[in-house]
Amino acid sequence: MRILILGGTEFLGRHLVDAALKKGHEVTLFNRGRTNPDLFPAVEKLRGDRDGNMEALQGRRWDSVIDTSGYVPRIVRQSAELMKGAADHYTFVSSISVYADFRTIGLSETDPVERLNDESDEDIAAHYGALKARCEEEVRKTFGEQTLAVRPGLIVGPYDPTGRFTYWVRRFAQGGDVLVPGRPDYSIQFIDVRDLAQWMIAMEEKRLTGVFNASGPADTLSMEHFVQTLQRVGPKSGKPIWVSENFLLAKGVREFEELPLWISDKANWPGFMTINARKAMDHGLVFRSLEKTILDTLDWEKTRQRGPNRLHDLDNGPGLSREREEQLLNEWRYELNNGGASTTPP
Ligand SMILES: NC(=O)c1ccc[n+]([C@@H]2O[C@H](COP(=O)([O-])OP(=O)(O)OC[C@H]3O[C@@H](n4cnc5c(N)ncnc54)[C@H](OP(=O)(O)O)[C@@H]3O)[C@@H](O)[C@H]2O)c1
Repeated sequence: MRILILGGTEFLGRHLVDAALKKGHEVTLFNRGRTNPDLFPAVEKLRGDRDGNMEALQGRRWDSVIDTSGYVPRIVRQSAELMKGAADHYTFVSSISVYADFRTIGLSETDPVERLNDESDEDIAAHYGALKARCEEEVRKTFGEQTLAVRPGLIVGPYDPTGRFTYWVRRFAQGGDVLVPGRPDYSIQFIDVRDLAQWMIAMEEKRLTGVFNASGPADTLSMEHFVQTLQRVGPKSGKPIWVSENFLLAKGVREFEELPLWISDKANWPGFMTINARKAMDHGLVFRSLEKTILDTLDWEKTRQRGPNRLHDLDNGPGLSREREEQLLNEWRYELNNGGASTTPP
């Protein structure tokens, strides 16, 4: 197949390229040439900006287009209209953030999506989910039944620029006392970027269309099991100190940001990591082991710290700084009356 990727050089896109090339497909990338421009020297690269400068795509034809870089409906409309007649199938990478109400447990593809109050609002940070939902609509308006909308949960693994899953992998590998948020049985979800990419390419090959949530694992994964796995496979095996959620909230620790993957029982979004991805699994989505995702993320993380092209300084990324973590742990121990902090779940 001839596949055009609008994007393709940061995280999901680069794994899509890998997965497509491995299956013998012909890949073309369209991007501005700013992010990792030297990647994939043997792959055709068309330069331009999808916001108003897409001339490089004129007069060409592909079997399928995959859009990993669409966030604004107006811009996605431009791409979809340009691709009409130039591709038979349009895959839009959306997000589970489209859903309107995360109080619902087990959200599936037919649940309501968030709406924009003001159609001209393009503030991605403020309206990421609603904008993604509108982008999906724009593609459907143009490509109709030939549209595939993929809604991933948290995407993790090598080259993840967000540092969220990586925080936990790195932190446990550093060893010592590790602050973990104190509700061990709550369920967490994410998807290894390579599982997502391989499944998406298989979906292209079968020309499948429709809307699909894409998150894992297949069975429920508790924070406790995640922590135990990090301890078991990591080189230094940090020691978890389970700190009560009430304490963390009282100290102003920000859910999902300072402690990635943490949603407290006080939050009004308990369904965020209980997404129902049964439909994707029924269409071939499979998950590698958690151990493999952790170890590969760790390997990548090590090369990244030594390499000359570090994209992000992880100490400025998500997660607690070591200083803040230590301070919180000291205060927590003090609160438990000197030495009562637990290494087992509260
Ligand atoms: N990370 C998560 O946990 C998560 C969860 C759910 C959904 N998602 C979705 O998954 C997708 C992940 O994207 P990714 O960043 O990994 O994709 P990617 O394809 O690996 O990287 C983004 C690409 O877009 C290109 N690009 C950016 N702005 C452009 C423009 N104006 N014109 C042309 N090209 C442009 C970049 O290259 P240049 O800079 O060189 O132009 C880069 O190649 C996103 O749609 C995100 O919303 C992510």
